[in-house]
Amino acid sequence: MSTQDDPIGIRRYDYVEFYVGSAKMVAYWYAKTLGLKISAYLGPETGIRETVSYLLTKNELKFVITGPAQPTNFELWGFLQKHGDGVKRWAVEVDDVESAFRHATSHGAVMVRRPEKLVDDHGYVEEAAIRLYDDTELVYVNRDNYDYIFKPKYCIPLQQINLESEDTGLVGIDHIVGNVRENEMSLWADYFNSCMNFETFVDFKHGDIGTKFSALLSKVVRSKNSIIRNPINEPYQGIKKSQIEEYIEQYYGSGVQHIAIRTEDIVKTVAALRKNGMEFLTIPDTYYDMLREREDLNIEEDLEELKKHEILCDIEGNGYLLQLFAKPIGDRPTFFFEIIQRHGGSEGFGKGNFQALFESIELDQELRGNLGREPVDVMPPC
Ligand code: FE2
Repeated sequence: MSTQDDPIGIRRYDYVEFYVGSAKMVAYWYAKTLGLKISAYLGPETGIRETVSYLLTKNELKFVITGPAQPTNFELWGFLQKHGDGVKRWAVEVDDVESAFRHATSHGAVMVRRPEKLVDDHGYVEEAAIRLYDDTELVYVNRDNYDYIFKPKYCIPLQQINLESEDTGLVGIDHIVGNVRENEMSLWADYFNSCMNFETFVDFKHGDIGTKFSALLSKVVRSKNSIIRNPINEPYQGIKKSQIEEYIEQYYGSGVQHIAIRTEDIVKTVAALRKNGMEFLTIPDTYYDMLREREDLNIEEDLEELKKHEILCDIEGNGYLLQLFAKPIGDRPTFFFEIIQRHGGSEGFGKGNFQALFESIELDQELRGNLGREPVDVMPPC
């Protein structure tokens, strides 16, 4: 689908930037575990004194890992102190940064960074940014006039390190999910729809997602050309604390909950990721007994292989999707990755898997002592 279908001219997901405590250590984890290549570096050696960044890539994936090199960058330190490691900003490539930004701000978007040209001898990259949930940003980027790696001031890595990683076959971003506080979901869906000319694609109401203990509400907004898909979750009252409430408490606010990464062969990808050290949620054998009994089960993959790797399957119309979820990757139970493979035009998000998935998450919440409804000492700021 071309960008002509989208007046904002959205082409694709571009990069996601994470703020972390130690960029070098986390970059090694991404390289080793996700099988990404350390493709570029920015830091004191390239004229940036306060921060260090590593660009990690594979196929369409671009992750930037940024950490402090000095105690003087208060924006970075403030984020880390409050949220821990997390997604600071995600970027979409657009035809025209200036007009996408103008559309957003004239429809109510909160400005973070006006359009600017980042220039060096190789040309320029244009960027602008608007505010998303709490301390998160959405960046518009265009690099049509740049012919070097990533952005000005980045250089090729100073050292090439062989981390002996299995090939994971990861392709690109499928969707990015935000968690927000109770009663904020519709506000943010409206924000996307009006500022970015998105549309609400799915609206999961009370009773659609949950177990007998905990529940959530979710809306999925997407760009008119369907390239960018962004589910937004908010907690819903249940007997026990939902995973979204746990996130909001532990992240001290709203932010990006997970990024789903596409693959063309999920069995191979998951086997490689497990070998590289990635931890996934556990799925009970009974899930596969129920799946086997479904009359509409018509999938290319061997069910025993899916069971062996604990991969979930959701059938929708003529298509189906395969997915599984990693455990939170940092110290707090906040951000995690999803791995997904779509077949036959599947466009869903695994609604049929929510029950098994949430029961698995609740087991981990219980281990962390975060499933109960006891009052917390410090409430997140509103
Ligand atoms: Fe997802």
